[in-house]
Amino acid sequence: MCGIVGYIGPQEATPIVLEGLKRLEYRGYDSAGIATISQGKVSVRRAEGKLINLEKTLAERPLVGQPGIGHTRWATHGRPSETNAHPHNAGGFVVVHNGIIENYLDLKDLLREQGHVFSSETDTEIIAHLVEEHYKACGDFEAAVRKTLEDVRGAYAVAIICEQEPGKLIAAKQGSPLVVGKGQGEFFVASDIPAMLSHTREMVFLDDGEVVVFTADAMAISTLAGTPLEKKPKTITWSPVMAEKDGYRHFMLKEIYEQPRAIADTIAGRIRNGHSGVFLADIGLADDYLKGLERVYIVACGTSWHAALVGKFLIEKHARIPVEVDIASEFRYRNPLVTDRTLTLVISQSGETADTLAALQESHDKGGKVLAICNVVESSIARKSDGVIYTHAGPEIGVASTKAFTTQLVALFLFAFYLGRLRGNLDPEVGRSMLEALVSLPRKVEECLELNAAIEEAAQGLMHVRDFLYLGRGNQYPIALEGALKLKEISYIHAEGYPAGEMKHGPIALIDEQLPVVVIAPHNETMDKVAANMEEVQARGGRVVAVTDRAAAGLAGKAEIVLTVPSIVDDLMPVLTSIPMQLLAYHIAVLKGTDVDQPRNLAKSVTVE
Ligand code: AGP
Repeated sequence: MCGIVGYIGPQEATPIVLEGLKRLEYRGYDSAGIATISQGKVSVRRAEGKLINLEKTLAERPLVGQPGIGHTRWATHGRPSETNAHPHNAGGFVVVHNGIIENYLDLKDLLREQGHVFSSETDTEIIAHLVEEHYKACGDFEAAVRKTLEDVRGAYAVAIICEQEPGKLIAAKQGSPLVVGKGQGEFFVASDIPAMLSHTREMVFLDDGEVVVFTADAMAISTLAGTPLEKKPKTITWSPVMAEKDGYRHFMLKEIYEQPRAIADTIAGRIRNGHSGVFLADIGLADDYLKGLERVYIVACGTSWHAALVGKFLIEKHARIPVEVDIASEFRYRNPLVTDRTLTLVISQSGETADTLAALQESHDKGGKVLAICNVVESSIARKSDGVIYTHAGPEIGVASTKAFTTQLVALFLFAFYLGRLRGNLDPEVGRSMLEALVSLPRKVEECLELNAAIEEAAQGLMHVRDFLYLGRGNQYPIALEGALKLKEISYIHAEGYPAGEMKHGPIALIDEQLPVVVIAPHNETMDKVAANMEEVQARGGRVVAVTDRAAAGLAGKAEIVLTVPSIVDDLMPVLTSIPMQLLAYHIAVLKGTDVDQPRNLAKSVTVE
């Protein structure tokens, strides 16, 4: 949560920092602020609410100079307000921070005793005061920052500038993401790659415990203790246009429509013409270790957890290894039975989710290996895992995850296939038909997108309800959960996902003529039972929205609305049925006039526990 940006170089900092913050607004939008240095003096502009408010402030009171730092906030300590907005200034030392300083109350007491007066309720403000205090003693900006970082406990990515040494910008990282962009005679630093993409694709990924000191023409990376480090920049393949709306009304809609391409990119290079296998030998885990696995834990949060639930079906079916699926925030508190014969598979779009990172650490501490399915290259989760399967969804900006989810499903399919082959459990004939289906997947997703107009129309009749129920069975139950989550997140309508067979054990009491029930019923071995659930809903006056495939077109009489996706092998059907879930939530949210890309209270990347 929270996004930070810094710039040092010959250009005016404000437009560059502001543009970077726009690319990071998905990380939080409770308040925003920028600070620059001009003629040796620090100036700060801050505003409560979204960046647009800061832009208005800047239009009235422009900010010139460089270097500059900026922040977009997701509130943790202190309510969203202008006073609590970053940057925080103490005696000319100005800081932006992403993370949580756990010992801030103790430090605040100490600083108060030394005469410091605080103007905000945040944990961050103590950083500025600590640097000021240490500077008094040592008279050196860099040394003061290092001493400050030794004092604080918790997670941080910080960027700091000061009046005392106006030609410097110092950034550091511990537990929160931070990337350096190397331009021509200028430097950028930000929480995430898209903030800098329109200026450079040469990025240096900082590790925990690293400090970088920028001057206008040089940068020096070192450990907190001061040992110099040589880190080579990596060239990022994402293009700036990938982080633009590209004519779509919302990022979410653009990202829904990008799925055929994102899925094709995730498959590319992993299956090859004329070969009947999956190529994942580069994931970083030895085949012998994978062959000997006794158990797999799949651990994730939110939408990625829903992908994990589908992954269990795939891995157990094709590799015949028992799989347990855990919500990351629960995993390490239940003392999981991790050994050197278990694999923990963590799934994360951002690669920065604090709970998932903690689960990863828990597995490592217990001596287990970790494989990540991750979208953001060189993110913390990707780097800390023993192996990675990257999804190639490209930057996902909409807070509600769409293309990241379907590409995670594809990555899980590839991994289950690979494991199945390695362990000799996958029948060659079944394998061949699975790969044929995989090749056809992007085209079939395109066909699903043709449902857009019908779903937009259906949304008009559904937007006024208070609650929704989503039902699915087997590998469609996670899609029911995902459909309900999408609707909740962006339309603020209460929705629940249930295994269809559980309806009669409780949720059936909710059914009346006000309650739409989205039933996911593709043609598979449980379709008849799910069709019976539809009749039970109808018999009680409920409104059924059925999502089915061509092979199951016979459901027409059992539902008010039938949305038909193409047929495909059952293992890949969750990818196709996800598309109407996404479009339905999207259109209901648009009709309700909510902020689709930045729904209230949420942030894209949840970097606090
Ligand atoms: C999805 O729409 C959500 N915004 C959220 O549940 C998300 O999937 C979750 O926070 C996990 O994020 P990650 O995949 O980046 O780890």
